[in-house]
Amino acid sequence: MGFYDNINGVNQYIQMAKGYDGGKLIEILRRYLPDKSTVLEIGMGPGVDLDILQKYYTVTGSDNSSLFLERYKKNKDHVDLMLLDAITLQTDNRKFDCVYSNKVLHHLTRDNLKKSLSRQKEVLNSDGILFHSFWKGSKTENFEGLLFQYYETKELENMVKEDYEVLELKTYTEMEKDDSIHIVLKKK
Ligand SMILES: C[S@@+](CC[C@H](N)C(=O)[O-])C[C@H]1O[C@@H](n2cnc3c(N)ncnc32)[C@H](O)[C@@H]1O
Repeated sequence: MGFYDNINGVNQYIQMAKGYDGGKLIEILRRYLPDKSTVLEIGMGPGVDLDILQKYYTVTGSDNSSLFLERYKKNKDHVDLMLLDAITLQTDNRKFDCVYSNKVLHHLTRDNLKKSLSRQKEVLNSDGILFHSFWKGSKTENFEGLLFQYYETKELENMVKEDYEVLELKTYTEMEKDDSIHIVLKKK
């Protein structure tokens, strides 16, 4: 059983993430993605970003932990949610204008990130874009069975350039100066 598949892990994450949200990232996304577009969020966790995305977009939230989905549904049962793994994204042929994640894809191995990115290309509408954030660095860490794969900007750029045009790839500060990277990609 994974860290996010038991209630202690879920509660621990919610406590730790208090005070953080993707508001600034979503402002950047809005420069590239028109209001009312359809957005699939991967790894929504407690749904803090999903709430913000919903102000502008037609959203579908997803996570591979049903605990997060059940928790979110308790208060907001009108929101479209799917149990999805970031690697396989079995969306029942549904496609979206944007696939968004905030600090999720670092839990995948490099190989699985590559698989996820090529699957994401298939679930994007034409002219669709991706928006993702990562922890910046060159470390690989494990915390209670969870993988934390850090990336440098160059490596991410190399990984995506075959399938996507890079619209923006920059560092930003989440907890410590320039500890994070956000990336905006357009399907080629
Ligand atoms: C660090 S939390 C981020 C949650 C949320 N995006 C936020 O910013 O608060 C990582 C989330 O990714 C989810 N996750 C981890 N691996 C995943 C995978 N392979 N597919 C889908 N979701 C995954 C976890 O269940 C968890 O909700």
